[in-house]
Amino acid sequence: MAKIRLDKFICEALTLTRSESHRVIRGGGVEVDGKMQKDIALKIDSDKSDVRYKGKALTYKSFHYYILNKPAGYITSTEDERDPTIMEILPEKIKKMGLFPVGRLDKDTEGLVLLTDNGALSHYLLSPKHHVSKKYYLESDLELSEKDVEAFFQGVDIGEKSLTLPATLEIFENDPKKAYLTLCEGKFHQVKRMLCAVSKNVLYLERVAFATLTLPEDLERGEVRELTDTETAELEKLLPVQ
Ligand code: URA
Repeated sequence: MAKIRLDKFICEALTLTRSESHRVIRGGGVEVDGKMQKDIALKIDSDKSDVRYKGKALTYKSFHYYILNKPAGYITSTEDERDPTIMEILPEKIKKMGLFPVGRLDKDTEGLVLLTDNGALSHYLLSPKHHVSKKYYLESDLELSEKDVEAFFQGVDIGEKSLTLPATLEIFENDPKKAYLTLCEGKFHQVKRMLCAVSKNVLYLERVAFATLTLPEDLERGEVRELTDTETAELEKLLPVQ
């Protein structure tokens, strides 16, 4: 492993933002090879250096996170025998990184897909226990009404053991066939099945937010970019410290 800066090591090992790691280092809590180090830019060997925080040995774990604006027509998986997958639209460099999508969007759904190699975080985000929020923009074949807002808030029957959890439907004032729907669960085809439960059909679906992430306005359909340090720190903060 190449040498890296002490502040980057501390960010990754303790899941802190860059400025939080500066505070920790400058506060005198970090030792490298037995000596207190306050130099945030110190280059260390992430494999060989013995780095400790308040006496506890730290290991360097660096994960990768990318956000994709998925176009319609692609399957959200790494392989498929029949259909093109989102892997096919990724640049070569990213394709080789061993990333996988966190959750699935239908082939015809567009929008935000998180790609990572952090299995623990992916597991956390997908676990039904954690009620991670997902926001969709949708277009319906029929006008949506206050009755639908209330029905989704109370929960609807989509053929599962229990009703859906409370969801927020925000109907566009200027066009009642358009709305945002925010869910805190992710059952198969959930949005389409919820619309069906109130006798409507989804004509268009786009995921615009997931957990702490929002689909960036400047990310074109089919484009992918790495998460910023702030986006990464906010996302990793969801995972309880192990
Ligand atoms: N709900 C759906 O029906 N489809 C998706 O792709 C995502 C959520």
